[in-house]
Amino acid sequence: MSQTAKRTCVPPTTQCHASDMIHQHGFSDQAPPCSEIAGMDVRELATQHGSPLYVIVEETLRKKYRAAFTAISSRYPNVKFAWSYKTNYLKAVCNVFHQEGALAEVVSDFEYEKARNLGVTGSDIIFNGPYKNKTILRRAVAEGARIQVDNLDELTLLEQLAGEQENTLPVGLRVNMHAGTEPVWDKFGFNFESGEAHRVVERIALGGRLRLDGLHMHLGTFILDLDTYGEGVEKLLDLARYAHETFKIELKYINVGGGFASDNSLKGHNRTGEDKAPTLDQYASAICDPLLNNMPDYQNLPLLLFENGRALVDEAGFLITRVLSSKATTDDERAVIVDAGVNLLQTANWYRLNVHPVESTSKPVTATKVFGPLCMNIDILREHAPLPTLKPNDLLVIHPVGAYNITQSMQFITYRPRVVMLGANGEIDVIRDQESLETVESLEQLPDRLISKERSE
Ligand SMILES: Cc1ncc(COP(=O)(O)O)c(C=O)c1O
Repeated sequence: MSQTAKRTCVPPTTQCHASDMIHQHGFSDQAPPCSEIAGMDVRELATQHGSPLYVIVEETLRKKYRAAFTAISSRYPNVKFAWSYKTNYLKAVCNVFHQEGALAEVVSDFEYEKARNLGVTGSDIIFNGPYKNKTILRRAVAEGARIQVDNLDELTLLEQLAGEQENTLPVGLRVNMHAGTEPVWDKFGFNFESGEAHRVVERIALGGRLRLDGLHMHLGTFILDLDTYGEGVEKLLDLARYAHETFKIELKYINVGGGFASDNSLKGHNRTGEDKAPTLDQYASAICDPLLNNMPDYQNLPLLLFENGRALVDEAGFLITRVLSSKATTDDERAVIVDAGVNLLQTANWYRLNVHPVESTSKPVTATKVFGPLCMNIDILREHAPLPTLKPNDLLVIHPVGAYNITQSMQFITYRPRVVMLGANGEIDVIRDQESLETVESLEQLPDRLISKERSE
């Protein structure tokens, strides 16, 4: 008689395969615990200043600036950096860069006024952007700002403004081109390949009111392909040679814009292999070598201008956030809800931000979806962050977040948080306070007829 062995029942389990926890290069992007930022205790910072809290490390700003400046000025003798205000225009951040020697690069009346308010002289301002209204343009002209013309309507306006003064008005031209970035940023400036930029050079040279002092490109951002810069520089110099040979114009500056990558990782990219960001030295030689080799036969070497943004500030910025609750998603991934939303971290749409636990633990990590607190389903700071089990009130640190997040943050549903700057000697300075009902409502007005809750007939 055959005997049927008794089989034990093993309950089925599911395992979440998170595509960006283990990279194709075989490493996990688990972020190590971060209990201190620049020597300051994260728990203490959150206790003193609340959560969420943006933290900016002053020394990192200075180190990044100096490293980039050294890489470039060791290859080209006449260099200046202009701080790209839109990347982070908190006064304290701008002034760290101004103390380091940066000019201001602005793209609107607001940014122009901000720079002037900080004491930057007009001649130390580079004025870019597709819309400079007539009032601010007139002021910039009077104050000697370096205006980089974006379009034909602006050119016409500048010719008019130049007609109101005795001397010719110096301008630079923003040039767009095919140089490997897709799509071409042809919203800005005059196109190289179509001959438009050449025609504008001719118009300026023959018009008699404007003087062409500079050429500018800003080909894209987070540029990983060095050939983009090489090709861009070649094309700018081609235009410079045309201006020199045809109209005897000797440029005073060449502005190669910004675009260097930060240490962040783009979604869908890896931080090793071909996706790895070039080093500062690689960027510097990709730009300076073709520049020095193909420069027109000028009497003086033009000033080389840079407008780097994210590469100088991203790593200096941290966001401390607190876990509010935890749950599981319907596909069985662990999830946490934290007190900072995508309204504070616009770059979460673009980057795979590092999410660091504050406590170190030997517990295994699991792919965790990090939701913000907003009442919107798209409020996701990070998919599949490798994190240990978290409970309410645990702190997390999100990094690098110094570029574009504060300037693009929006007040939505709740108050925007405080920003502190950590100094080299243990200083913790509030550089922007948390919003309050009063600050948020300060521009609102309630018409008299709506003050009462009763409607008067
Ligand atoms: C004209 C101009 N210059 C410089 C920058 C800074 O760029 P990045 O942060 O890529 O260095 C920007 C940013 O978009 C820009 O529009």
